Amino acid sequence: MLILGIETSCDETAAAVLRGTGKNRVGILSSVISSQIKTHAKTGGVVPEVAARMHVEKIIFVIKQALKDAKIKLADINAVAVTAGPGLVTSLMVGIDTAKALSLALNIPVIPINHMEAHVFSSFITYPSSEAPAKSRKKSNIKFSTGSNNNIFPALSLVVSGGHTELVLINDWLDYKKIGATVDDAAGEAFDKIAKLLGLPYPGGPALSLLAKKGKPVIDFPRPMINSKNFNFSFSGLKTAVLYYLRDHQTKKSDVAASAQQSIIDVLISKTIRAAKKYKVKTISLGGGVAANKKLRAEMKRAIKTNSLDSKFLIPDFTLCTDNAVMIAFVGYLRAIKKARPRKKTRTQILADANWEL
Ligand code: KG4
Ligand code: ZN
Repeated sequence: MLILGIETSCDETAAAVLRGTGKNRVGILSSVISSQIKTHAKTGGVVPEVAARMHVEKIIFVIKQALKDAKIKLADINAVAVTAGPGLVTSLMVGIDTAKALSLALNIPVIPINHMEAHVFSSFITYPSSEAPAKSRKKSNIKFSTGSNNNIFPALSLVVSGGHTELVLINDWLDYKKIGATVDDAAGEAFDKIAKLLGLPYPGGPALSLLAKKGKPVIDFPRPMINSKNFNFSFSGLKTAVLYYLRDHQTKKSDVAASAQQSIIDVLISKTIRAAKKYKVKTISLGGGVAANKKLRAEMKRAIKTNSLDSKFLIPDFTLCTDNAVMIAFVGYLRAIKKARPRKKTRTQILADANWEL
């Protein structure tokens, strides 16, 4: 089965082709991402109208390139999976309408995908080696089970992106429950806003983590909700603390960056480890753009070890942390073979759902 994934929820226009081999394996045949970052950097953030227009300009080229890289023809596609939310509504509409048109023309199903669900399962997509994804892509073999899988579930996924911070308990493929979320800003949003306060370019996450490398986490910024009994997060207070600190102190910006990053990482790790212990999970996984943060990856790994948890730790390849269409096609494939669409809908009933909750 060949499945085309389409992603246009925010500022990346992406398409990917996956082949399901029927033996609980999929191969990534192609992954194309056209990023709008350079354009949005000029305005210091995403302007939704601009993002939507750029998706319109790029989507056909991106899909054509994905088919070309996969060495297949459009008519070979058996199903199209598309992000239907959450995200910017006008951006989502570009991907959805393209997917619907393909579905109508080729008479194939269109599968609406929740973007956060795709981030949750992205860490289960493992490349077979540490080669650059471009080289390993074609050999890629993702092994998974469609039934219950005793080796990896229950699993706990920490999904940290620009708009969401969620802890998700996964019982089985596509069977999961959200156990915690941010009550205000998302972790990625905190990175972006604090970076802006430090005069760093958009997107702030990568820029802030680079600056943090040059500094030391010597400032004791708050660790919001670190001791609260639930698994929720809050990051807006940290941003305010950084704002006032910068107003009142002449400190090295790199130390501020390192300290703010440390606060975010400490809270994320502390809550994840507590949830992992409570639910006795066999796997801990990371997903979303902030999962590209090397310090978070390294410290989570260390925390799992120092807490003597024998959970496996899964982190997506860097290319699968930020927005991509491989994860959309992957969840589309899981849904196709399980015949479990989020809500059974006809083609015309599939609409952009900007606030689609996990
Ligand atoms: O998943 P994603 O690409 O888009 C959303 O679904 O939101 O995540 C984007 C977020 C941005 O907030 C960006 O600053 C953050 O991920 N991010 C990082 C890093 N790379 C991207 N945050 C911290 N460290 C990074 N290395
Ligand atoms: Zn995302």
